[in-house]
Amino acid sequence: MKLPLRRTLRGSKLYSPKHGLIFMVGPCFYKLYSAITRNHYNMKTKSITLFSLIILVCSFSLLSFKPQTFDLKASIARGKEIYIASCISCHMDEGQGLEGVYPPLAKADYLMADKKRSIQQILYGASGEMKVNGKIYNMEMTGFELKDDEVSDVLNYIRNSFGNKGAAITAAEVKAARK
Ligand code: HEC
Repeated sequence: MKLPLRRTLRGSKLYSPKHGLIFMVGPCFYKLYSAITRNHYNMKTKSITLFSLIILVCSFSLLSFKPQTFDLKASIARGKEIYIASCISCHMDEGQGLEGVYPPLAKADYLMADKKRSIQQILYGASGEMKVNGKIYNMEMTGFELKDDEVSDVLNYIRNSFGNKGAAITAAEVKAARK
């Protein structure tokens, strides 16, 4: 029986309610297991214990199943902070930019057209001619030293603000787009 381990784990980083549950259910498992393996139980008891064991295993696997959904709302909220700190000075509070100088992000066809291009522009900067909402821009933006999740957050913010609506960008996509 692994009960003494419980004390070792508590207080350490490894201890979580999930581990607690394992240590609670663990001994029950052991009891059931020995009930099945020992011979002095009759067939009925054996089949009942076997059945409960299967139920237990099934509920365990259900418990450990956590759907991995990306929290776009939270990402957008974090991204807003980054936008205010690093981008608003040029792209402005409504994402309208400055005509002929700083391209708009608001309802920007160019921004929404290519996820990977946007990721790389935030990371490495953008220069040369670009056409945004029918107008030509030819200035330079230097890249930003942001972490993968910060890049995805700020992109999720601009791609879902100022009248834009775009699919979420994850930190993994940013990582993959790094050169
Ligand atoms: C110093 C001014 C400045 C700052 C600060 C700045 N940008 Fe830019 N940004 C520009 C310029 C200038 C361009 C156009 C570059 C060109 O003409 O090639 C641009 C282009 C872009 C583009 C592509 C064009 C478009 O409209 O889709 C995106 C996306 C973008 N910036 C996002 C950001 C984000 C996000 C931040 C903050 C992390 C930021 N920018 C901060 C000046 C800036």
